[in-house]
Amino acid sequence: MTDTAAAAGLAADAASPAASAPRPQTAYELDAVTKRYPQNGRTVTALNDVTLRIGAGEHVAIQGPTGGGKSTLLQMLGALDRPSSGTVRLGDVELSRIGDRQLTRVRAERIGFVFQNFNLVPTLTAQENVEAALVPLDATPADRAERAAAALASVGLADRVTHRPAELSGGQQQRVAIARAIVKDPGVLLADEPTGALDEDTRDDIMALLERLRADRGLTLVVVTHDSAVARRADRRLHLKAGRVSER
Ligand SMILES: Nc1ncnc2c1ncn2[C@@H]1O[C@H](COP(=O)(O)OP(=O)(O)OP(=O)(O)O)[C@@H](O)[C@H]1O
Ligand SMILES: [Mg+2]
Repeated sequence: MTDTAAAAGLAADAASPAASAPRPQTAYELDAVTKRYPQNGRTVTALNDVTLRIGAGEHVAIQGPTGGGKSTLLQMLGALDRPSSGTVRLGDVELSRIGDRQLTRVRAERIGFVFQNFNLVPTLTAQENVEAALVPLDATPADRAERAAAALASVGLADRVTHRPAELSGGQQQRVAIARAIVKDPGVLLADEPTGALDEDTRDDIMALLERLRADRGLTLVVVTHDSAVARRADRRLHLKAGRVSER
């Protein structure tokens, strides 16, 4: 079984006695997820009783006003933080129940992240930035180099591998960040405003790239965006307001 299949929940399905009755595979299952932050003696409720299923291979957009809880939800999906209450399941793993070391491992192996401001290391080349994602995994240097070069080629940057971030356009920097996110062959790709820093043409190129990678690799794609043109491309649009989720 591939990591992708495991992340998509195939392991759980195959092991289940009900596996003979096919059902849509699930990437994420959130049940009554609430996230509160203590703040100066008060409590901010960033997510309020969110129950949600995201199918394996689905492309979901998350919209909503600033402060609505979008980034907080992405942190829960990304195993970056745990809910205050409720459960988050990724495939066969209950993220809300496992320890910090296991959470780190799940993030390193199964989840790709893309951010608005690319978050590349400025002193490293494109090749080195992508290889960095493989350092926590059991890959030899030669294997890392080969996989990073292939990932950069798959985002159209085979001729930019020795460039540092400052020597690349914004769109090219985001392509490097996408190569870094997919090089480990994750089951899910989580993007927080991936086109927020780009012009409209580059935005459309980046969205087309994410959609192609999703189709080629069977990725589950979750995109937080303020841009309706980006959200309209998704299979499904969720709205988060004051920590509560609704379908659009
Ligand atoms: N670490 C934290 N400590 C305290 N409060 C926080 C923390 N992170 C987020 N919040 C609060 O939780 C709420 C949701 O924040 P979140 O960042 O998820 O919003 P968002 O929908 O991503 O907004 P934006 O569109 O501006 O990025 C906000 O009221 C925010 O102030
Ligand atoms: Mg945010």
